[in-house]
Amino acid sequence: MKKKIAVVGYGGMGSWHVNHALRSDVLELAGIYDIDEEKSKKAEANGIRAYSSLDELIADKEVELVTVAIPNDVHLETVIKCLEGGKHVICEKPVALSSGDLEKMIYTANRAERLFTVHQNRRWDVDYLAIQSLVDSGEIGKPIRIESRIHGSRGIPSDWRGEKSHGGGMILDWGIHLIDQLMLIYKNEEIDTINCEITNITNKEVDDGFYLTITFKSGAVAFAEVGTYNFISLPRFYMKAEKGSALITDWREKCKVAKCKYWHENDVLPVQTAAGLTKTMAPRDSVTLDEYELKIPKSDVHNFYRNFVNAIDGKEAQLITHDQMRLDMKIMEYCFKSAKLHQTIKFEY
Ligand SMILES: NC(=O)c1ccc[n+]([C@@H]2O[C@H](COP(=O)([O-])OP(=O)(O)OC[C@H]3O[C@@H](n4cnc5c(N)ncnc54)[C@H](O)[C@@H]3O)[C@@H](O)[C@H]2O)c1
Repeated sequence: MKKKIAVVGYGGMGSWHVNHALRSDVLELAGIYDIDEEKSKKAEANGIRAYSSLDELIADKEVELVTVAIPNDVHLETVIKCLEGGKHVICEKPVALSSGDLEKMIYTANRAERLFTVHQNRRWDVDYLAIQSLVDSGEIGKPIRIESRIHGSRGIPSDWRGEKSHGGGMILDWGIHLIDQLMLIYKNEEIDTINCEITNITNKEVDDGFYLTITFKSGAVAFAEVGTYNFISLPRFYMKAEKGSALITDWREKCKVAKCKYWHENDVLPVQTAAGLTKTMAPRDSVTLDEYELKIPKSDVHNFYRNFVNAIDGKEAQLITHDQMRLDMKIMEYCFKSAKLHQTIKFEY
């Protein structure tokens, strides 16, 4: 049987959840609640019930789960209210603005015996899934360094994302996705240090981009960069591994893999570059290198909801766990600390 869901916030992402609920095989949309009357009118014009208050939504006993899709600074109070009201809760990312706030949410969920998770929908991005599967397969050995980047050129959207009081800035907005993905790729590694540098090119109040380096105790490195003032974009993913390299240039592009078959090559011919010769940078040929592309992985982001519904019914464990949420949150806190101090910081679990 489908579960009744209500969505709090009918803005950009709230509408996304509503559209998914309307087409879902596991959900039935009960309605939305938005603090803005115009949004309520818009919902009603679209044939969707708009609750007049959060209390009215919570009082609807038919609603089993609630998705919270409102600005970051108001997640805490709304999540807690819904959990205390007996609803299972999915909160948009970033789930909270601090580890302390996250602990309050988890504590409330446990006390109310309700499920609680965060919508890390980018675990279903095919670019990330390609790198994840390449690492898991061990095809080109263990990663030495993975670089995950997203570049845009339009600054921060001109809404609450540009304001500190609402939990704006790119670490909280996009960083959380890249951190979450990297920590899954490096799931067996222990973090040693964190270094983060933020940019304030178009916005002085919050970070409009950042460079994050996570060093693991094994020596492996994860690098994440978000840029909103990049008129030429660097590739989405680059991976240097023990036995080769991988590259994904863009969201929709296939993952290119170059696997080293033979490391030694005694008779390298020097190549001419600019005003000189080099053997070091001479390209390889097909005798020593195997070059191919991976198939784009199959992915359905609605599996997020299918998993959560199954978790409510006790059939599966929830995919996005409280411990994963805690780790992501902590890494973001270390980012802010490192950027403020201009220092690399030792990570304490
Ligand atoms: N997972 C993703 O891919 C993704 C993408 C975009 C946004 N988000 C997240 O979704 C959340 C919402 O972002 P958005 O882009 O939809 O913002 P938005 O500004 O487009 O919409 C927010 C909506 O929330 C309403 N609202 C504000 N305070 C409220 C309250 N206390 N109670 C009820 N409604 C309230 C506003 O009126 C507005 O309609 C944020 O946490 C954001 O980080 C996630």
